[in-house]
Formats: sequence, C-alpha cells, structure tokens
Amino acid sequence: MRIDILTLFPDLCDGFMRESIIGRARKNGLLEIQCHDIRDYTPDKHRRVDDYPYGGGKGMVMQAEPIFRCYEALCRETGTKPYLIYMSPQGKTLTQQRVRELAELPNLALLCGHYEGVDERVLEAIVDEEISIGDYVLTGGELAALVVTDSVARMLPGVLADEVCFTDESHYDGLLEYPQYTRPAVWREKAVPQVLLNGDHGRIAQWRAETALERTRQKRPDLLDEKAGR
Ligand code: ADE
Repeated sequence: MRIDILTLFPDLCDGFMRESIIGRARKNGLLEIQCHDIRDYTPDKHRRVDDYPYGGGKGMVMQAEPIFRCYEALCRETGTKPYLIYMSPQGKTLTQQRVRELAELPNLALLCGHYEGVDERVLEAIVDEEISIGDYVLTGGELAALVVTDSVARMLPGVLADEVCFTDESHYDGLLEYPQYTRPAVWREKAVPQVLLNGDHGRIAQWRAETALERTRQKRPDLLDEKAGR
C-alpha cells in the first residue's frame, strides 16, 4: 500500500515514518509513505500558499491552486487517482471499522489543512472523504494524518507479527480487549488471575471473553449499545 501526505509541514511526519513498526514496515517494502510539501506547488513567486478569507474574519485560508497542483502531480507520479481524505474536525469520526476498510485501498492520500481551513472549492473538486480523529480541534491536520497512517498501516498483512495481534484487541469486534499480565506472577502482593496460569486454553478463552464484555460494560457501555444496533 502507498500513503501520500499532502502538508505544509513535511518535517513533522519524518520522525514518525522512520521509527518503530512503521519504519520497519517501510524498510520491508510492506508500505510506502511519501510526504509532499504543498508549498512546492504554489504559483506564487513568494511561495505564499494562503490568503485572507473573503467576507472578512480572522486568520488565513489555504488557497486552492497549490493543493490542486500537488494532488495533480501525485496523480501523474502514481498513474492513479489516490483516494483523497481531507483531515478535518468536520469529518466523520475515525473508527476501527473504517480503518479496516481504508487498509484495503492500494493508494491513500491525506490532505492536511492549516490556519482557518482550506478554500472550499478545492475540497469540492478533489476530496473523496473528510475524516476527523475526534471532536476537538488541532492546529493542523498532520497529527490526524499520522493517526490514520499508523492505524491503517498496522492492519496491513505482515506489518504486525501475528494476525492475533489485532483480532484480539480493543475495537476489533466492538468490544474492549481483556486485561493482560506478564511476569512476575505476583507483583507487590498482587497476583495474576489463577485461570491464566494453568494452561487450560478453553477456560482462558472463556475468561477472556467474559472480562472483555465486563470491562466494555464498565468503561464504554456506549460500545455495547452500538453493537446491539441501539
Ligand atoms: N484538523 C484539525 N482538527 C482535526 C481533527 N479533530 N481531526 C482531523 N483533522 C483535524
């Protein structure tokens, strides 16, 4: 899969792309990530990419043309029309289900806004979908784009060590994950639940299913309502 990030701050994404699981996935050729500096596509000789909002008001608005040219160049380079997502607090909130669907696409492009937003006309012209990572406002779309990149990348075959890593985890089937423990078996007088120590895989699976349900009920009862279609 290839993910392209269209941004005014490509350096923000660099460290993230090189480190840890994402860095390894790129080295292993499982994932390609490219950042594109929108400023490189401005027709303005002073490299401006923003201007005052029509109708007045505070702040600046990102102009349509540099973004459009950046996306056009990406289409030319890849020979496709990557599915373009605009990172925005006005979008639909990202869910694990949507992450799974996005991971099926061969090409994904993430547009990061800044200042007061982006000229609406370029959004109408090229954006396929708007996604928010939560009901709060960030200074720009970069962190949100990295959230999408990270959550999508880890769904790709081979990126995580074992498929069980995500079939058991929180949100996979609409529940939170069961509690995890590691050695020592007793830590500061707190013992690991006995059922996990006796190697009875049937009982362990049953205990995990029950505790997953119980902690979802306690911590996120809204997920159970959603699962029941209420
Ligand atoms: N840009 C600014 N705030 C955002 C949010 N909550 N989600 C996605 N992109 C954003």
